[in-house]
Amino acid sequence: MNTANQTQLFDTFRYFESLLPDFARTGLFNPAAQRYVRGSTARPMATVVERRQETADTVSFVLKTPVNYPDYQPGQHVDVAVEINGVRTVRQYSLTGIDGRGSIKDKTISVTVKRAAGGKVSNYLHEHIHAGAQIEISNPRGDFAMPTTDRSAYLFFSAGSGITPIYAMACALLARGASGDIYFFHAAKNRHSVIFCEALRGLATEFKNFHHYFFYSEGAETNRLSAASALALLQNTVDSSQTPVRICGAGDFVRSIENDLKEMRYFDIQSEYYTLPKWPSEGLRSDIPVGADQEPSWLHGTARFLRAGIETKVATNLLEAAEAAGLKPKHGCRRGICHECKAHKRNGIVKNILTGKESAGSEDIQLCITQPMGEVEIDL
Ligand code: FES
Repeated sequence: MNTANQTQLFDTFRYFESLLPDFARTGLFNPAAQRYVRGSTARPMATVVERRQETADTVSFVLKTPVNYPDYQPGQHVDVAVEINGVRTVRQYSLTGIDGRGSIKDKTISVTVKRAAGGKVSNYLHEHIHAGAQIEISNPRGDFAMPTTDRSAYLFFSAGSGITPIYAMACALLARGASGDIYFFHAAKNRHSVIFCEALRGLATEFKNFHHYFFYSEGAETNRLSAASALALLQNTVDSSQTPVRICGAGDFVRSIENDLKEMRYFDIQSEYYTLPKWPSEGLRSDIPVGADQEPSWLHGTARFLRAGIETKVATNLLEAAEAAGLKPKHGCRRGICHECKAHKRNGIVKNILTGKESAGSEDIQLCITQPMGEVEIDL
């Protein structure tokens, strides 16, 4: 076989390999990627080319990716896996880089990691990962996406480290020359804890259509970010029916902004939850009659885990119910982002905790964000 044919054959294998799910991908047909493979595992390894302190407790890592690493969209995330005390541990981090902080052209990406109290992976990354280190990453994943067509205005809301995908989207919009007004509302503890603070100010200086507003929960400048407090600053200059909204942060923050904007007739809303909203949430209880003093029966739906032969009541979500019943379903983020907890439902009606949508019959579901509405049967 001549070299051209060999290359063609490898390309064909690589193409089919790229269609496999992450866990089944080997890198076998990508000689360039194999340089990044350590030991017997063959997962994409990235090299840290820069470590940048963003705030006292937040660091960005710029990563050089393997040669065949796919392009990514702002809003997507990667799984970062590290070995801590002999245990491989995985967390999801939004991609923050697009122009300036990682770029598709240079095959670099960046993730921005805020130390979480007691957080195994975030603390490990802060303490042990410096320029030159290699870390395992997944391909970019996720459906959180910015609008693909240009609009006359965009609303972005974020809180704490929820700024990371939102910042990536705003940067990408500006980089692609969007001329609509970009309104960026961010909530933080105080001015010292705003991630990308200087970068955001720089964008406002460079682009006349970029407007940012910070809201603080501590200190003399306290001003709570809500949909109402944000929109009051815009003095009704935005057309709700035409304006896309992207929100990211802790569950209750996101849920509250979402609910308020829906009431104000904003239709194009996409959110990413960094934690699940408190249980049960107001947004999901709209079907409870006002004044009802009893919890609805679906809060205590029943799950039948068919392979295990276990039936159990579900007070929160199916992942927690399965774990409480002694099962160990595969999972990652526990907040609806990574899809690692996907399982097949044979029967029954379920509700998606984040979207409030109900669905019935045979389908794949994410256990961590799904609650049963009555009895459901799961292949687990
Ligand atoms: S564990 Fe990540 S989506 Fe359920």
